[in-house]
Amino acid sequence: MPAPSQTTSELKRLAAMVCTGLCLPGAALAQDLDAEVMTAGTTLYQDFCAACHGEQGSGTSSGPPLATSSRLQNIDKLVGQTLDGGEYMPGFAFLLSDAEVSAVLTLIRNSWGNDFGPVQPTDAERLR
Ligand code: HEC
Repeated sequence: MPAPSQTTSELKRLAAMVCTGLCLPGAALAQDLDAEVMTAGTTLYQDFCAACHGEQGSGTSSGPPLATSSRLQNIDKLVGQTLDGGEYMPGFAFLLSDAEVSAVLTLIRNSWGNDFGPVQPTDAERLR
C-alpha cells in the first residue's frame, strides 16, 4: 500500500495525463474557433466561393473540392491562393479584408471533414 501522500501525487499525475490527452485539445478548439468568425465565414463562402467550390465544398465543374482536403493544411499556400488566385481562380486581395480572408479560410479549414484550426487576420496581412 502506498503512503497517502504518494497516492495523492499519483492521482495528480494521472489527472494531468488524462487532461493532456483529452482536456486540452477540446479546450483549445473551443477557444480558437470563434463562433462569430465561423458564421461570418459561412456567409463569405456562400457569396464568393460556393459558385465554383460547391455549397458543401464538394466542388463543381468550375472548381476543385475543398472537403476533406489535406491541401488546406498549409496556411501560406491557402492564403496565397485566396489573395492572388490561381490559373483559373480569381484573386480576392482587393475584394476581401484581412479579417474576411481569415474568416472564410477558418470556415473552410474546419468544415466538411477538415479539422485544421483557424487562420488569423495577421496571416492574410503578412502575405499581401
Ligand atoms: C471562378 C471560380 C472560383 C471561385 C469563385 C473561387 N475559386 Fe478557388 N479555385 C478555383 C479553381 C479553378 C481552382 C484550381 C486552381 C486554379 O486554377 O486556380 C481553385 C483552387 C482553390 C484552392 C486550392 C485547392 C487545392 O486543392 O489546391 C483553394 C484553397 C481555393 N480555391 C479557395 C477559394 C476560396 C476561399 C474562394 C472564395 C473566397 C474561392 N476559392 C473562389 C475556382 C474558383
